[in-house]
Amino acid sequence: MTQNFYDKVAKKFGRYHTGARYVKEFTDGDPEEVFKQKLIEVSGKEKQALDMGSADGRFTLSMARYFKRIVAIDSSEGMLASARNLQKEKHSTNVSFEKEDAFKTSYSDGSFDVIHGRRGPTPYSEIHRLLKPDGFFIEIGIGEQDTRSLMETFGRGQGYGEWDNPRLPRAKKQVEDLGFNIVYADEFFYHEYYASYDDLDLFLQGVPIFEDFDSEKDKVNLQKYVKENTTDRGIRLKRHRTVVLVRKK
Ligand SMILES: C[S@@+](CC[C@H](N)C(=O)[O-])C[C@H]1O[C@@H](n2cnc3c(N)ncnc32)[C@H](O)[C@@H]1O
Repeated sequence: MTQNFYDKVAKKFGRYHTGARYVKEFTDGDPEEVFKQKLIEVSGKEKQALDMGSADGRFTLSMARYFKRIVAIDSSEGMLASARNLQKEKHSTNVSFEKEDAFKTSYSDGSFDVIHGRRGPTPYSEIHRLLKPDGFFIEIGIGEQDTRSLMETFGRGQGYGEWDNPRLPRAKKQVEDLGFNIVYADEFFYHEYYASYDDLDLFLQGVPIFEDFDSEKDKVNLQKYVKENTTDRGIRLKRHRTVVLVRKK
């Protein structure tokens, strides 16, 4: 299911971005910035990195200058093709985009100094195997409260009903049990405001919140959500992210 979804997005939009217009409003910081800064802190021109679930590779390629080499893996052929096209445009030579299942990669034990994942898969035991001793893993993940009221309006969605099963403590326990030291772990709640109904509709076509989102069939749901969440700033969507940085003992 997931696989077909990302291939479909790559085919429809040519990248992992729809062009929907929205602004973000933070109260306790921008988790993407925190993730990026912490990744830069653990980077190094002598280091080999692995990006877990690189999608269209835009973020991976923006990080290439901080590392000796980045191996970026994804299981979607469509996304890998977009990433390789972008790589040609950017003339980047130290990133290789490879088709792999993150849960069962073909790389040897201890192949990487740093592994990062930006809303990608998080196979913690495989990550532990692939890291060198003292290596770092950093992820930005989707919190259990993310887009909750939207999913409640639709009556379905990714992680629907998991709201009392907080992701951050679960992730912390999993990594500690595997023998990682937690360097940093925090969560962020913020708002996005979509410029119009059409922008929110477009956004939903390109993300897996509802993998089966259908602009026609979901019209009534979306109209209801838009009616209840329209503000002076735009149509509000509540987001929730987790950022975790760990080090292999
Ligand atoms: C939300 S997107 C990641 C976005 C990307 N990291 C970025 O910064 O824009 C998730 C990606 O993970 C990939 N993916 C999902 N499960 C995977 C798996 N088991 N192995 C490899 N890639 C996977 C999907 O194909 C998709 O491209």
